[in-house]
Amino acid sequence: MSVNYSERIPNNVGLSENRRLQRALEAWQPNYMRWWQELGPEGALDYDVYLRTAISVETDGWANFGYVKMPDYRWGIFLAKPEEGRTIAFGDHRGEPAWQEVPGEYRSPLRRLIVTQGDTEPASVEQQRHLGRTCPSLYDLRNLFQINVEEGRHLWAMVYLLHAYFGRDGREEADAMLERHAGDPDKPRILGAFNEPTPHWLAYFLFTYLTDRDGKYQLASLAESGFDPLARTCQFMLTEEAHHMFVGETGVMRILQRTCEVMQALHTDDPERLRAAGVIDLPTMQRFLNFHYSVSLDLFGQELSTNGATYFTTGLKGRYHETRVTDDHRLSDATWPVAVPRVSAIVREEQPALLAINERLRDDYIIDCQRGLNRWNKEIEKRGVDRVLTLPHRAFHRRIGVFADVHVSPDGRIVTADEWARQVHQWLPTPEDHAFVASLMQPVTVPGKMASWIAPPWRGIHGKPIAYEYVKFHC
Ligand SMILES: [Fe+2]
Ligand SMILES: [Fe+2]
Repeated sequence: MSVNYSERIPNNVGLSENRRLQRALEAWQPNYMRWWQELGPEGALDYDVYLRTAISVETDGWANFGYVKMPDYRWGIFLAKPEEGRTIAFGDHRGEPAWQEVPGEYRSPLRRLIVTQGDTEPASVEQQRHLGRTCPSLYDLRNLFQINVEEGRHLWAMVYLLHAYFGRDGREEADAMLERHAGDPDKPRILGAFNEPTPHWLAYFLFTYLTDRDGKYQLASLAESGFDPLARTCQFMLTEEAHHMFVGETGVMRILQRTCEVMQALHTDDPERLRAAGVIDLPTMQRFLNFHYSVSLDLFGQELSTNGATYFTTGLKGRYHETRVTDDHRLSDATWPVAVPRVSAIVREEQPALLAINERLRDDYIIDCQRGLNRWNKEIEKRGVDRVLTLPHRAFHRRIGVFADVHVSPDGRIVTADEWARQVHQWLPTPEDHAFVASLMQPVTVPGKMASWIAPPWRGIHGKPIAYEYVKFHC
């Protein structure tokens, strides 16, 4: 399963044995490169970046580290090793051999799943393209670029599936991936959170903690798919996704460390004094957390979804860790508790588990999000600061699903439009919050130095010191 780097498109799928496919992908490649140059990291084409490149999909030593100019990064097609005799784990086809070709009757829903996932990958690169200009350190700049090239590779992964298995429609969808753009009023990306701007590094760290984590849950449930090439693609993508969430979690952690340090030094929790000292106060952190969490929750879709049910019964998209769940994996009679707004309160009602597949994935996601919050809060406590960050209620600030039409406070009360309007500035980032955070974003590019608002990381990358020159600019 080692990767063949001698080909124009590195791959472990035997691309050279399928000339037609190889030619089709080689025809798409220049369009991708043009997209990267126009909408990839701004002004960074010539930088030498200390990047990790996948060289095999084995768990031991799959990565190679070295300086690379991003346009020279070897984007390629890597699938996890096939599992011999793999069978479909859920739905009506449970127990049948996994599909190596697209079943004709599921062609269009399967394509929709792949396109929706694929669209998010270049979207995040577009959203983050200006951040390099204001990096808090070379270490952070390198991590940003590493994530960007990997999201580019995730697009390759989905484009490969479209080209290899969906004929002309697939090729058209692959082209359209480079025609929609994040925040474009005429041709936006498919999902809401991928059209929101990522205007500064606080938004970026929360995005990678919360929105990349949605990606983890989507990929994990696609990794259960009965369509084996999709499952294997997603398995390998998950190994890269873990690093993105690491960057988010440690980024937020380091901001909190720095803030708490200054709170202790100045003996104050006054936001104005802390802002004047160049750090981000905890209420502001909470408001940004509320925003990014709520838009990420929306990505899971409607609480009750017939599409979700169909994806499951047809074996296209499973649950999180489907094979580890102990039930009949068909859910014909099972129920699942789903939160809904009723007159003045939010209650949980038992609903058919099949219809509640999205909600169940959202539940898994929420539990996972809370783990990082616990670690952040422990760090805050360790530094003698008496305040905790909390995840807002799942119904807070939602635009999709049963809570889209009600106003709900972060602690889960249904409130009137008046109360919402009175309080929203305490719950969500205000224009002043954005302006303040943006004002902190002064680039720091001296090796080992950090911006005022963030603590150094615990350690460098791949055994290198924190003060290593992770990015070389040549200017
Ligand atoms: Fe991704
Ligand atoms: Fe990611």
